[in-house]
Amino acid sequence: MSRVAAAAINLAGVTVRFAAAPALDSVTLRIAPGEFVGVIGPNGAGKTTLLRAIAGTLPPTAGAVTVDGREAATLAPRERARLVAAVPQVEGPPAGFTVEEVVLMGRTPYLRRLGPIGETDRQRAAEAIRRTRVDHLRDRFAETLSGGERQRVLIARALAQDARILLLDEPTAHLDIAVQLEIMDLLLELLPGGLTLVAALHDLNLAAMYCRTLVLLERGRIAALGAPEEVLTPEALRRVYGATVLVRPHPLTGRPHVTVMGRKAAPAEGIPRATMPDAVKRRLIVAIDGPMGSGKSTVARGVARALGFRYINTGWMYRAVAREALRRGVPLDDAAVLAEIARTLGFEFRETPQGARLFAASEDVTEAVAAPEVSEAASRVSTHPPVREALVALQRQIGASGGVVMEGRDIGTVVFPDAEVKVFLNATPEERARRRYNELRQKGAEVSFEELRAAEQERDRRDRERTHSPLRVAADAVVVDTTGKTADQVVEEVLALCRGRADVV
Ligand code: DC
Repeated sequence: MSRVAAAAINLAGVTVRFAAAPALDSVTLRIAPGEFVGVIGPNGAGKTTLLRAIAGTLPPTAGAVTVDGREAATLAPRERARLVAAVPQVEGPPAGFTVEEVVLMGRTPYLRRLGPIGETDRQRAAEAIRRTRVDHLRDRFAETLSGGERQRVLIARALAQDARILLLDEPTAHLDIAVQLEIMDLLLELLPGGLTLVAALHDLNLAAMYCRTLVLLERGRIAALGAPEEVLTPEALRRVYGATVLVRPHPLTGRPHVTVMGRKAAPAEGIPRATMPDAVKRRLIVAIDGPMGSGKSTVARGVARALGFRYINTGWMYRAVAREALRRGVPLDDAAVLAEIARTLGFEFRETPQGARLFAASEDVTEAVAAPEVSEAASRVSTHPPVREALVALQRQIGASGGVVMEGRDIGTVVFPDAEVKVFLNATPEERARRRYNELRQKGAEVSFEELRAAEQERDRRDRERTHSPLRVAADAVVVDTTGKTADQVVEEVLALCRGRADVV
């Protein structure tokens, strides 16, 4: 790794603590100007916290972050914005503004309070629009763009800011493969212009292909740092991700290429270092409830993985009953027959190399239950008390011995009212519909955003208004609004709650 005397970014013994266990733990790291550094690690490892510490928006509990020799947390916001620009996740650009207006927002740190936009501001915005090749979209509303186009606009806004450091939080999340490469190529093109790039990346192979330096985080600490060849070793990935991998040179680029072979055998090893005392007698039950699109599944999976717990998605069970009813032609208002299906279908959650899967009648139904017609049917099926009673009984059996992260609508209120950790996730209706829209589009589905939003509103209404176990917040649940937050940030918040509770079990 090339080093120059003046580090553009310097972290010295940085600890950030939200709760008992630190989200970043004594991190020391120097990033030289002009580097492209990839920050990798499982959900909850501290990637987003690291970016926020560099941005100066999260002051460290201990240690110091300096950016170009100046302490990040003490800079005035406008001053900081001239040094460091953040590109949030793809959901980002504000609605109701044209591309040009969004990019001009990058000039805010240079405008006098309520002052007019000047010629220089327009020139800098035009330059940013040109460099990111979004000229043809200039007058379009940002919310009408594709995921890749939106990401370009956000990068343009950051460039218009004239900052010298760009922080990117999962810049390729929700994008299809070709667009992922397009965005990463664009970032590489920008580098010679005097920028330093730090990107949190989930995809290890993209990180290996594009970044000269990787930082592998594990529960707030640097587990490995260096060139991709040094960091992406089977041993390190096994320890940090709990997965067995094969690392081979990529046939075209020669960079390391990671193939996941399977999950590491011993499931209990994922428990955070020293934060879950051995004395924990009964392992925790973590209940995660919330409406559709609130981020439940991604967050629940991330928390389960970080803790080495089983991940149980109870929505899949309602969906599997609905799918079976559709297959057998059972009317969706026949509560007795539907409950019989729920009792006899035979559910089994299995951990596989692809993650948790649901088997019903020995068939892997994980993909099949995601179909839109099943969503609609599940929403109706779940209103019937006999169906709910049958599935709640099964869910209690599945979670009885603890060590589970269970997600649904009534986990903290009905299934496990005594769960040690209860979280209710929420997000604005627009954000929730947008997430679902991105997810479906990525799977290649042709959907209209407006239709999707209307259908989701209707299902939400049904969830909230049904007489039996309606969606509501348990009195002792912690409500987390996930709007504008990355999955990692929310996973970290939930892990902090879990660590806090581990001491009292
Ligand atoms: O979370 P999901 O969208 O996959 O859930 C499918 C349906 O099942 C949804 O309409 C809500 C319902 N459901 C429920 O009523 N109770 C649960 N614990 C989980 C899901």
